[in-house]
Amino acid sequence: MNPIRAVKGMNDVLPDEIGRWQHIEAAFARSMRLHGFREVRTPYVETTGLFVRAIGEVTDVVEKEMYSFAHHGEELTLRPEGTAGVARAYVEHAVHAKEPVSRWYYTGAMFRAERPQRGRYRQFYQLGAEIYGDPGPACDAELIDMLAAFLGDLGIGDVEVLVNSLGGPLTRARYKEALVTYLTPRASELSPDSQRRLLTSPLRILDSKSPIDQALVADAPSLHDVFDPSDRDHFASLERHLQALGTPYRIEPRLVRGLDYYTRTLFEMKGAKNKLGAGDTLLGGGRYDGMIADLGGPVVPAIGFAAGLERLLIASDNVPSSPTVDTFVAPLGQEAVSYALLFARDLRRLGVACEVDARGLSLKSLLRRANSLGARVVVILGESELRDEVVQVKDLVGHGQQRLRREEALHAVSELLRAPTAGHP
Ligand code: HAM
Repeated sequence: MNPIRAVKGMNDVLPDEIGRWQHIEAAFARSMRLHGFREVRTPYVETTGLFVRAIGEVTDVVEKEMYSFAHHGEELTLRPEGTAGVARAYVEHAVHAKEPVSRWYYTGAMFRAERPQRGRYRQFYQLGAEIYGDPGPACDAELIDMLAAFLGDLGIGDVEVLVNSLGGPLTRARYKEALVTYLTPRASELSPDSQRRLLTSPLRILDSKSPIDQALVADAPSLHDVFDPSDRDHFASLERHLQALGTPYRIEPRLVRGLDYYTRTLFEMKGAKNKLGAGDTLLGGGRYDGMIADLGGPVVPAIGFAAGLERLLIASDNVPSSPTVDTFVAPLGQEAVSYALLFARDLRRLGVACEVDARGLSLKSLLRRANSLGARVVVILGESELRDEVVQVKDLVGHGQQRLRREEALHAVSELLRAPTAGHP
């Protein structure tokens, strides 16, 4: 019989790898807590109309990459990103009336029907956050600085921080006009997708993946030439704050990002090109001051970002994997098994993670298994220990071994686990 395999572009994360995932998730949760963010969880499935309205009909994500299906007369979609659903929840629960500023973060799977390659999957995980109610630019700078520090904490070097501003509706309208005027005489040279978008959504041509389109837009007018004064001030303040914080950044005037909802501040961070190749964008985000009103809420400014968790994992290969258990309980012979189970239960009550191996292995095999699990301490219980109500506590790092009474042994194991260990996690 043919084995059943996972869906193309959707990957298993096995327990051997999960320690590295959890390390990054914990670092992210810590950074979020330090910056006043609280976690939000929204559904994996939303109505298709939400993404069409929030992300924009003429975007790669909506046109080509969504997993959509009909169910009992409803058009539904597996979320391709987190922002639209989180904004929907913000509007649906009238959160603006409860708090002036909301800082929310999320982690979870997203789904895009893209061509799978290294760092690009059809089910992938994002770490993201959104701020509602703060027009910036101070919080924009804070977010960018926080993210640069987060990547640094993960040991990702050579990070490039790209920033730009798309301006508000006025600037965007002016820019669209300038871009269409520039591209129309060259229209026949554009890719078929871009020829269509010239009429519907010309800004999308700037992030076209076609090399011909890229060459054509290289000399196109810049957004910065048509900035409205308020947009210019916003961007200048953002730069001032970034400079005051000492966050290295580079202005990338062609950065528009692939989603239609952005206004003003935009940013992306790239890194580890040698490991990620073309898909080296670790995270991206920006301001989307119009979305909450577009979804039926009041006018509330918003900014956010999302990072690809798999890309962070590929980029930060020095993230440690954690040991499976602290303590390994090794009964020698069947007589000692119940005694071992009792002792392990007492250890767990003290918060010590332990595993009992009651398969009847030799001491040598048990010690080998303890090492492979990354245990620091082995508790050995043989028939003589059972008779004398003692246990042997073996320190796999300090290499000492003590024969102790039960209560003393519980205490000794906790103490050993508290002691610092050179080179041991
Ligand atoms: P995005 O640029 O589409 O933005 O995705 C953010 C990050 O998710 C990317 O930089 C990349 O690391 C990761 N990513 C995207 N697609 C894939 C894929 N197919 N496989 C693996 N990783 C991927 C957003 O999603 C916006 N919601 C960000 C945002 C939040 N803007 C404002 N608030």
